[in-house]
Amino acid sequence: ANLVAVIPAAGVGSRMQADCPKQYLTIDAQPVLWHSVMKVLAHPQVTRAVVAVSATDPYIADIQWPTDKPVDLVHGGKERADSVLAGIRHAIEQCNADWVLVHDAARPCLRAADLSQLIATTLNANQGGILAVPVRDTMKRATGSRQIAQTVDRNALWHAQTPQMFPAVLLADALTQALAAGATVTDEASAIEWLGQQPLLVEGHADNIKITHPEDLALARFYLTQELS
Ligand code: C5P
Repeated sequence: ANLVAVIPAAGVGSRMQADCPKQYLTIDAQPVLWHSVMKVLAHPQVTRAVVAVSATDPYIADIQWPTDKPVDLVHGGKERADSVLAGIRHAIEQCNADWVLVHDAARPCLRAADLSQLIATTLNANQGGILAVPVRDTMKRATGSRQIAQTVDRNALWHAQTPQMFPAVLLADALTQALAAGATVTDEASAIEWLGQQPLLVEGHADNIKITHPEDLALARFYLTQELS
C-alpha cells in the first residue's frame, strides 16, 4: 500500500493572537509544522508528505526537511476541509496514493507508537480510522442561557485527534460530496460518517494536543522534551 501523509497547514490561527500562524511558531528552533511533518514521515510505511499551504505563505520556502522522502506543496483552501481535499487530490494524481494519513500541522507531539498503532490497525479497515482518546471529564449539555440541561454519558464520548487515515479515493469522494452538500466537516472522519460509514477509533494519548491558544505552545515544548513513545 502507498500511504501518503497530507498535512493541512493553510490556516491563519486567529485564536493564537500571534504575529504568525500557529504552525510557524517555533519549538527548539523549528516551526511547529516541521515537527508535525517529521513525526509522520518517521514511520517507515509513510512514503511522502503533501503539505497544503496558503497561496501567500511567506515561511514555507525557508524550511529544510531532513529526510529522503519527498515533501510536496499544494495550495490550501478557505476551510480546513478544502485544504485537505487539495492535498488528497495531489496525493492521488501525482503520488499514486492508495491510502492517505491526514495530520494537522498544529499537532507536533504525536507519539511514534500511536502512529504505528493507527497505521497497523487501519490498514485492515476499509472505512478508515482515527486516533482518539476517551473523555475524562464529566460532560454537560448546555441550554441556550448557559445552564446545565443534562449530563451526557461520557462512556460513549471520545476526543477526535489526528492523524486520521483512509483509503485515498474514499476520502476524496466523501469530502467532495459532504462539502457540496453543505455538511459540517471539522475532521476527515465526519465526511466518511456523512456517507454512512463508521471509522475505527484507535486509542492514543492526550498529549497529542492541537496548538490552538498561546498557552498550548509551552505545553507542546514540554511534551516534546519528554520521551513519550
Ligand atoms: O484552525 P484549526 O485548528 O482547526 O486548524 C487545524 C489545521 O488545519 C491547522 O494545521 C491549519 O493550518 C489547517 N487549516 C488549513 N486550511 C484552512 C484552515 C485550517 O489547512 N483553511
